Amino acid sequence: MEIAPGAFHLQHYLEPGRQRALVDRCRALLDGDVPGYVPVVRGGGKMHVRMLCLGRHWNGKTYAYEDVRSDFDGLPAPPLPDDLKSLADRIAASVGMTLNADLCILNYYDADGRMGLHQDKDESPRSIAAGLPVVSVSLGDTARFLFGGLRRRDPVEARPLESGDAFVFGGPARLRYHGVSRIVPATAPPELDLAGRFNLTFRQYDV
Ligand code: SIN
Ligand code: MN
Repeated sequence: MEIAPGAFHLQHYLEPGRQRALVDRCRALLDGDVPGYVPVVRGGGKMHVRMLCLGRHWNGKTYAYEDVRSDFDGLPAPPLPDDLKSLADRIAASVGMTLNADLCILNYYDADGRMGLHQDKDESPRSIAAGLPVVSVSLGDTARFLFGGLRRRDPVEARPLESGDAFVFGGPARLRYHGVSRIVPATAPPELDLAGRFNLTFRQYDV
């Protein structure tokens, strides 16, 4: 399951009952008082996901974290629920990494959802230098996840992330390029009653 130094793919990490409960949480969060929205990024393009940041808001215009959603509606980022934080910290520990997650980006991908190749590099320089991992949890339809190297032009591996999978990249893998090229429709476990995919990425802003 260590696919590269510091990168771990934990297939079927979450059993079906846990997936179901998490799907319900994701739905409630995205449709809550501070709802998910489709960010417009720096160049003016819309992202191809519906996003909600918990614990700290990632501003798609400045690529910086902030307390309130100044690129959208000025509302404060909802807190990161304790049980979600613990799940992320446990996943990191299971691969021998330390994480004290304090923020999560929850994304919903519909059948046309995708995310271009990018690095996660907007957390504090100390957090990144320490190699504190990003922990990702996937629910619903399978994603074709792209995992590259430290340079944009490095070769990219395509890897299906299925419902219940966790993926961790920290240490020497922390700044590897990654993205989602497509969602494979109608691949979610039927008991989730979900069209599309939720992905949660947990991070620790500072050390
Ligand atoms: C991300 O890189 O922020 C999301 C990755 C994913 O959806 O698997
Ligand atoms: Mn990312």
